Amino acid sequence: MSLTDTTAAPAVPATSADVPGWFFRADREAFGWLLARQTAARVTGDLLEMGTYLGRSAILLGEHLAPGETFTVCDLFDLDAPDDDNSAEMSMSYRSTLTRRAFEANYLAFHPELPVIVQGPTSLLADGRIPADSCRFVHVDASHLYEHVAGDILVARDALAGNGLIALDDYRAPHTPGVAAAVWEAVFTLGLKPVLLTPEKFYGTWGDPDAVRADLLARDWRGEGFRLDEEHFAGQLCHRLAWDDPDGPETGATPAPAARSPAASSSTCCPPSPPARSAAPSARAARGGARARLQTPACPTTPGTHSRRTGRKTKYIQYEAFHPARREHAPDAAGLRRGFEDGP
Ligand SMILES: C[S@@+](CC[C@H](N)C(=O)[O-])C[C@H]1O[C@@H](n2cnc3c(N)ncnc32)[C@H](O)[C@@H]1O
Repeated sequence: MSLTDTTAAPAVPATSADVPGWFFRADREAFGWLLARQTAARVTGDLLEMGTYLGRSAILLGEHLAPGETFTVCDLFDLDAPDDDNSAEMSMSYRSTLTRRAFEANYLAFHPELPVIVQGPTSLLADGRIPADSCRFVHVDASHLYEHVAGDILVARDALAGNGLIALDDYRAPHTPGVAAAVWEAVFTLGLKPVLLTPEKFYGTWGDPDAVRADLLARDWRGEGFRLDEEHFAGQLCHRLAWDDPDGPETGATPAPAARSPAASSSTCCPPSPPARSAAPSARAARGGARARLQTPACPTTPGTHSRRTGRKTKYIQYEAFHPARREHAPDAAGLRRGFEDGP
């Protein structure tokens, strides 16, 4: 069986922690909290995720879908990318592990129905299929190239209603400057207002940031061991939230090393999360017992390369031979602490 064989039955995850991906505690808690606050306030609206991979974040979003709401996910899955750079990004990071079928199996282990799936480039979403002002939460985590993210932000802006939230992945990662460019461009030219910054995601709204902030601060984050700081810059006010795992850097489950360059693979410590078939209860049991909770993944480190999404950066790969990367998606936790907490 090849790694991209779509005919074999995928293993069933016992918990969403068994689903490979890059969705860590601060963001899991922020998503869950902000979505739950919307529901408690009787705010209704659809959910949209651009960039789903194997479903780790989509599974949590699906937990907050209320009756009458629609959850749409958009991903290329097995399809070709629309341009060469995006294609290189796909080959570097996702191709060896990602199939639509695997996503569907993972999602159905936790939810009785699939979301609406748009298989294709996120640029398709600009055709009006997502009604204007229909969404309360949009997660942008597809291509991390500037041209794509800038387009995804425009789709999200049109889709979001009221105080709806956009969460943008990798707005500050060293290997994704295009996301940073698109995010801050939206802040300074498109009226996007920051509300919350975690080490990995930017949260903002085109609505009333004070109202969203009040929701955010209705929880005693510090009392639960999170770091929460208020930040003022360029006339903006927002909060920073981070979680330091006492057991060391939090990890995501890993994609298969086969997609990586030899240099990157040499820093690989472990394969993708093991299939949960033998240890796992049935999908039905998983739905009943484990569906609501995301847990710390078992893999001790997420290895890889900062060039995960930008396949042409051989210099990075050479550099990492001297400074082994600990996590594919973002800097190691010590680096996060240095860069995020202490500031310049
Ligand atoms: C970082 S992963 C998403 C991770 C996922 N949100 C999670 O938390 O586990 C990025 C995903 O974006 C998809 N992708 C990349 N370029 C895309 C494009 N132009 N249109 C749609 N999806 C794309 C990839 O197939 C991949 O599944």
